[in-house]
Amino acid sequence: MTIPFLSFDVMHGPIKKALREAFNEVLDSNSFIMGKQVELFESSYAAFNKVSECVGVSNGLDAIQLSLEVLGVGKGDEVIVPSNTYIATLLAVSFVGAKPVLVEPDINTYNIDVTKIESAISDLTRAIIPVHLYGRACEMDAIMRISEKHNLFVIEDNAQAHGAVTGEGQTGSFGHMNATSFYPGKNLGALGDAGAVTTNHEQYAAKARVLRNYGSQKKYYNEVIGHNMRLDELQAALLNVKLKELPRWTFQRKEIAGWYNEFLRPVEELVLPVSTSLDAHVYHLYVIRTSLRDDLQAWLHNAGIGTLIHYPVPPHLQKAYKNLGFQKGDFPIAEEIANTCLSLPLWPGMVKKDVEQVAKSIQAFFISVKKTV
Ligand SMILES: Cc1ncc(COP(=O)(O)O)c(C=O)c1O
Repeated sequence: MTIPFLSFDVMHGPIKKALREAFNEVLDSNSFIMGKQVELFESSYAAFNKVSECVGVSNGLDAIQLSLEVLGVGKGDEVIVPSNTYIATLLAVSFVGAKPVLVEPDINTYNIDVTKIESAISDLTRAIIPVHLYGRACEMDAIMRISEKHNLFVIEDNAQAHGAVTGEGQTGSFGHMNATSFYPGKNLGALGDAGAVTTNHEQYAAKARVLRNYGSQKKYYNEVIGHNMRLDELQAALLNVKLKELPRWTFQRKEIAGWYNEFLRPVEELVLPVSTSLDAHVYHLYVIRTSLRDDLQAWLHNAGIGTLIHYPVPPHLQKAYKNLGFQKGDFPIAEEIANTCLSLPLWPGMVKKDVEQVAKSIQAFFISVKKTV
């Protein structure tokens, strides 16, 4: 690919030495599980996320499941999730024995439509999981008002929006428990699997610490039936290096999104991300929409430009969820997004010339389409 979807080389280049030093430090320490790197990362990420508590865990899926377990959500309960999220949001609900109840997103923001949440609430509803999709913060003030009115828990899925700001606070700080992923391609990514829960409730964090570690506080003494959902010391050490870069990387992501907006605004056939306050979107992904998505993706591929689709099949149409009994047409907005969305190349350090080349190739595609009509 001339322009890949994501270039780790460019992102990691300037910090490779520091990453290697972090690796060596862990190697030389002979401490590989729950050591000082995990402790340092938890306090640093809590400070970054403006919460009192951060508990490092194994990955984002486990972070959501652990959050649900800490809040006592389980068998027979219903949990409201957006109909266009990544499958992990639903899987976590299923793993605790609860039922995911799908609510359509807003077609402009791609985040859960807050005006549709209340009609999905039943006597069995225990929690709402808003997902800050593509890096755009959900309307958390409105969601928290709904949760208070109906006495529901909120668990933010903040896998894609590290550092986004909405209303009075930062994503990952509003909910009773909040889950995030440090999958390598995320805005803050480990060099392997990693995740965390964040909260301002000390008692929930304490429960999460026990549950992530075999239900144990004291080695070989088990208080509850727990998991092994620990964050590796090595990943924590690498994350400690990368967290320092996150503000700079977020600034660059926003700048790149601005360039795409500038170059693509003249292309009438495209739906671009709707504008928002500068802090509310951290552009994990720059997602455009067109009914000619598949042809455009093939065109860009032939031009050496990497793109991805987030996500091609909405959860209700996944084979894994056929037990929910849904059919095509049941969630038309989620389906419309799945059929038309395309994520363009974006990584911190991507230069304006590359953004312009992607935009020019997109323009050339639509010119060629007009010629053939
Ligand atoms: C919205 C969302 N939720 C949850 C996850 C799950 O995270 P992980 O891959 O670390 O399990 C991801 C990313 O993969 C995600 O994008």
